[in-house]
Amino acid sequence: MTIMQSFTELVHQRQQRESAKRNRPVESEVTKLDVRNLNFFYGEKQALFDVSMTVAERAVTAFIGPSGCGKSTFLRALNRMNDIIEGAHHNGTVLLEGQEIYAPDVDVVSLRKRVGMVFQKSTPFPKSIFDNVAYGPKIAGQRNHKGLSEIVEQSLKRAALWDEVKDRLQDSALALSGGQQQRLCIARALATNPDVLLMDEPASALDPASTSRVEDLIFELKQNYTIVIVTHNMQQAARISDWTAFFYQGYLIEKDHTQKLFTTPKKKQTEDYITGRFG
Ligand SMILES: Nc1ncnc2c1ncn2[C@@H]1O[C@H](COP(=O)(O)OP(=O)(O)OP(=O)(O)O)[C@@H](O)[C@H]1O
Ligand SMILES: [Mg+2]
Repeated sequence: MTIMQSFTELVHQRQQRESAKRNRPVESEVTKLDVRNLNFFYGEKQALFDVSMTVAERAVTAFIGPSGCGKSTFLRALNRMNDIIEGAHHNGTVLLEGQEIYAPDVDVVSLRKRVGMVFQKSTPFPKSIFDNVAYGPKIAGQRNHKGLSEIVEQSLKRAALWDEVKDRLQDSALALSGGQQQRLCIARALATNPDVLLMDEPASALDPASTSRVEDLIFELKQNYTIVIVTHNMQQAARISDWTAFFYQGYLIEKDHTQKLFTTPKKKQTEDYITGRFG
């Protein structure tokens, strides 16, 4: 089987799972994020060049490309996580439901609640499982214990972790396995009730079984959330994403339906990358 045939097979399996599960069209076409002509700089160094891209609502969009091509930079630009890096600046626009997220009147804290983020090695706080998930809602002003308990339970259920931890919510989060910690961090992100979830290589530090659980979870979550995921693993992109964007040296080379990008890419650079000619 050629590489492209094996991608087709993975995409096909996903589509079958999907159509068994829901009635709505496989790829949502409603635009959640609309990035226009984004240039991004770390001091003098330009990391993104004139990137324009839309991100569809309630779908999974994957970013792929070689190390250093700007995937994480672009992802972090979507919830202003780059703001905390000294010397970082940009031009261009990033619209979330039509509103400029870099407008002067935007409250960054509430933006990051709407656009949550999970990192590659998300480390839980050295606190209990309960407190990790309750942290965001507490800061947001939820003090009522019953209300917090409900949020914690619902978030852990959505992150497919509840059954494993419901009897030990007061135990330290650091006693969980790596895969459980990653799902806990997803629960923590979900607890603030985001619309969009940004994930930077959320499964790259996990073993195959935990990776598979996180992939299943992402598949479930996209029913309700817009998900953007950076991954080094092209099979993973083919398995879980509806859309795939290929970056190279700070440029967005191509974004398309995952199936199209992996089977009939328009650009030669994309084809070379997905067939393993460079990486
Ligand atoms: N905090 C920073 N300060 C200065 N330069 C940075 C910073 N973060 C990233 N860069 C540079 O910006 C470019 C893009 O980096 P980025 O981390 O976005 O790439 P990436 O595609 O996520 O790579 P990887 O797959 O290795 O995670 C690289 O040249 C990198 O060295
Ligand atoms: Mg990165």
